[in-house]
Amino acid sequence: MAPLLLSLTFLSFLLLPSPSFAASSCASETFSKNRLYTTCNDLPHLSSSLHFSYESSTGTLSLAFVSAPPSSSGWVAWAINPTGSVMIGSQALIAFKQSNGAMVVKTFNVSSYKSIQESPIAYKTSDLSAEFGSDGKIRMFAKVVVGQGASSLNQVWQVGGSVTNGVPDQHDLKSDNLASVGKLDLVKGVSTTDSSAGASSDNKRNVHGILNAVSWGILIPLGAIIARYVKVFEAADPAWFYMHVSCQLSGYAIGVAGWATGINLGKESKGITYTTHRNIGIAIFALATLQIFALFLRPNKDHKFRLFWNVYHHSVGYSVIVLGAINIFRGLTILQAGDKWRTAYIAVICGLVGLAVVLEAFTWLIVLKRRRSGQKTYSNGHASVQQPFGV
Ligand code: HEM
Ligand SMILES: *[C@@H]1O[C@H](CO)[C@@H](O)[C@H](O)[C@H]1NC(C)=O
Repeated sequence: MAPLLLSLTFLSFLLLPSPSFAASSCASETFSKNRLYTTCNDLPHLSSSLHFSYESSTGTLSLAFVSAPPSSSGWVAWAINPTGSVMIGSQALIAFKQSNGAMVVKTFNVSSYKSIQESPIAYKTSDLSAEFGSDGKIRMFAKVVVGQGASSLNQVWQVGGSVTNGVPDQHDLKSDNLASVGKLDLVKGVSTTDSSAGASSDNKRNVHGILNAVSWGILIPLGAIIARYVKVFEAADPAWFYMHVSCQLSGYAIGVAGWATGINLGKESKGITYTTHRNIGIAIFALATLQIFALFLRPNKDHKFRLFWNVYHHSVGYSVIVLGAINIFRGLTILQAGDKWRTAYIAVICGLVGLAVVLEAFTWLIVLKRRRSGQKTYSNGHASVQQPFGV
């Protein structure tokens, strides 16, 4: 009992977010040149903090933004967005190391999800400077005239891994990078964010991935394996057919759900279209739908067109499986899912291929044995001895 309680307590510490510890961490930050700020906020994403003083008589915000870029050649950005809690419209200050090794802070009027360019911004800025600490953090300092009587701002922040020709390159699109927006209350001195934004979009992407991987990656190939190998067993006729159809129908149902979540993700995304992933996804859906309808057009077993139907049904089926595998790998790359998921999916593929190889060998053994014993055809009539797979 006691060990159980102990481990439960321990577990709850692991699972609970620890805002109380985080809340105090920005306060321990110290700055060069005796810079002091009345307020500091630990921002809820990208391990960043904002330190500021707002002088309402002049409308000037003095600030320090602290964040660690993903690499020493990276950048950190803090912005005010007068138009909304999104990247586009951000009046950004971006700090990075120049090719001569000196730190610089530049202003960017962010108006595209494709690239950004240095430009004046809507606010008067002064005292821009930055330091790259030995702790891997960039400390960016600025004074920004936000106007007298300002009370609340949309703030946007970001970090990126590289800079090309003095222009920051695109940041990652992980959930933390997509959620780093919020309100800054100058009067109360607090930052609030819709911290569920990034997490919920991450969940949707994961659900999309799981549905499609289970459907196109596991159920549909399994259904094909059943059709190809189980039907060789005389005793399994017509059971193989029902197994095949129920596997493919449930795979199709889950796949359509996965496809719909994908279309929805595409709609929600303001700046990115993964063209190839999207097009392959649409092709898979179209081919699979065709496959379902073709079921109803299936000619009778001994109809002369049955051969053509079989060729068509098999080629469309294999195309769906191959395209499915390709798109799952593309999706894993987009999700930046990490090697363990990729490895897991490769293991699934190896398992399915291994199963197919074993069954293939086994089937040929049976076929050869039947041929030796002089049996000409299967009693089920689906396949002949010479063509065990019923093309
Ligand atoms: C350097 C060039 C940049 C490129 C190419 C870039 C590209 C993108 C893209 C493609 C998205 C995804 C939008 C979607 O969900 O469809 C995004 C989101 C985001 N970016 Fe950037 N970005 C850049 C710079 C910045 C900077 C400087 C900031 C901070 C001031 C920033 C902050 C954000 C934030 C907060 C989001 C999530 C909210 C949103 O979608 O608007 N980005 N970015
Ligand atoms: C920022 O860019 C937008 C879109 O290009 C433009 O409408 C706006 O006037 C620019 N703002 C500033 C301060 O240059």
